[in-house]
Amino acid sequence: MKTWPDVARGKLDHPADDLLSELVRDVPPAEAARYATLLLYAGHVTTTTAIDKGVVLLDSHPAQRAAVRSDPALVPGAVEEILRFPLHPPRGGRPRRAKAGFAIGEHRVEPGDLVLLSAVAANLDEAAFPDAREFGVHRDATGHLAFGDGPYDCLGAPPARLDLQAVFTALPRLVPDGHFAVPAEEPGLRADAEHAAFAELPLTW
Ligand code: HEM
Repeated sequence: MKTWPDVARGKLDHPADDLLSELVRDVPPAEAARYATLLLYAGHVTTTTAIDKGVVLLDSHPAQRAAVRSDPALVPGAVEEILRFPLHPPRGGRPRRAKAGFAIGEHRVEPGDLVLLSAVAANLDEAAFPDAREFGVHRDATGHLAFGDGPYDCLGAPPARLDLQAVFTALPRLVPDGHFAVPAEEPGLRADAEHAAFAELPLTW
């Protein structure tokens, strides 16, 4: 069986019009293979999870689903809202070291402290998103933190947005009568995923 480094080495001899061929031009095959694995993992489970989440959210909000279906111009905004809206409680948080001291309410963070940032909490901030616990495809959800923020924000946010917009534009055409086959609270989550990802998503059509 070929390993990722084997595939990367193969691209040195037979370059193609793809990312791995570009990478092996600049870095050794083993390193290029590590980048490729990172991109595959970081880009795949996150995007498929967002698709699942969107299907569940739209299916459980029929009027909004009908609105998005009848007006494709709503799709980009609906995608932002699907990304913002937390369907599940957070699993942990993103670890960061504080560079400077600051206060949050009555709590004091000192330089060097480890802090866990919760994008779920930020995406439910009423000051940024009024009625934040309501799912609404007509709201302006820009500024959500589903892709992180700052120097380590998501490298793949632009293609992920394109993917999701393509999916939620095409789904009504591909499965016009598609519906979630069990109540939205029923499907379990994968135990092995760092992100809250459905173990399965039964649909009927
Ligand atoms: C809906 C889909 C996606 C979501 C919700 C998502 C979410 C995130 C988040 C929250 C981070 C920042 C983590 C942190 O602050 O520590 C991140 C980083 C990253 N994402 Fe995504 N991502 C998605 C799609 C993608 C895709 C399609 C790719 C690649 C093609 C990708 C590649 C990466 C990489 C390489 C990083 C690390 C960036 C760095 O450390 O500088 N992501 N992503």
